[in-house]
Amino acid sequence: MKVLRTVAEVRQWRTSAGTVGLVPTMGALHDGHAALVERARGENDAAIASIFVNPTQFGPGEDFAAYPRSEDADLALLETHDAAAAFVPSAEEIYPPGDDTRVMPGKIAETLEGAARPGHFTGVATVVAKLLAIVTPDRAYFGQKDFQQLRIIQTIARDLRLAARIVGCPIVRGPDGLALSSRNAYLSDVERATATALSRGLMAAERAFESGRRDADDLRSLVSAELEVWGLSAEYISCADPVTLQELSGPVDRAVLSLAARVGKARLIDNALLGIRLQDLDQL
Ligand code: PAJ
Repeated sequence: MKVLRTVAEVRQWRTSAGTVGLVPTMGALHDGHAALVERARGENDAAIASIFVNPTQFGPGEDFAAYPRSEDADLALLETHDAAAAFVPSAEEIYPPGDDTRVMPGKIAETLEGAARPGHFTGVATVVAKLLAIVTPDRAYFGQKDFQQLRIIQTIARDLRLAARIVGCPIVRGPDGLALSSRNAYLSDVERATATALSRGLMAAERAFESGRRDADDLRSLVSAELEVWGLSAEYISCADPVTLQELSGPVDRAVLSLAARVGKARLIDNALLGIRLQDLDQL
């Protein structure tokens, strides 16, 4: 596996790589990231993962400094999963001296995580646009775990007429149902058990939806009831249109249920799609 640290090295590598699948990450890699790499490898001649803890997507008081960093273990994991290359740039390589351009997504970035974390998605959109411009992949892979992020990137790719196909990949969970996340490293054993309330709540709502419960408020209440059992209160519980992420009311035939909650030091998010398949989303 090639470890590339500059834009010039990536461009050089790209010329003979064939079709390329890009997996953008911030490192601290786990099986969720590995699933994206496997998918990229299966659908392209070469998979390349980027590892870059992007400063512009962290707000003041967020965990940029504390964010787990483990380059050696990350490179070993990528090698195990047959990535052809890893792009591990410095901050100056991504934000060169005088850098003065930001990519600002529209309405889809104003709700949910965008409302809770002002400026976050401008930072995400900017770094992803840069990575797509540097690597020029045929496909780029993003997890459903960060559903709003996935939809924002798909919307940007459509609106800016980007060539890369943006592929959504299902959430990888631990045996206890907790969605894998680099931020789970902040949880104690007891907190980890409590954190399973997020996926339990979503699964309860999913089962209810499948057996005919369709009211958006009812579905939100099922999630919050489960959180209460575990002594958690959510920052938000949303039942939104899966394409535009605007909040829904009344009966729904397709939706994304999503939530954010604090467990100890960690701020966790999770979601479930109701009445629509992930792979159908960027066709809409
Ligand atoms: P990061 O949190 O490292 O996640 C990288 C990719 O892995 C994202 O597309 C995310 O949705 C996916 N992912 C994380 N946990 C997952 C899980 N349990 N199952 C499936 N996929 C999972 O998201 C970012 O980094 C950054 O915002 C980034 C896009 C790299 C821009 O800086």
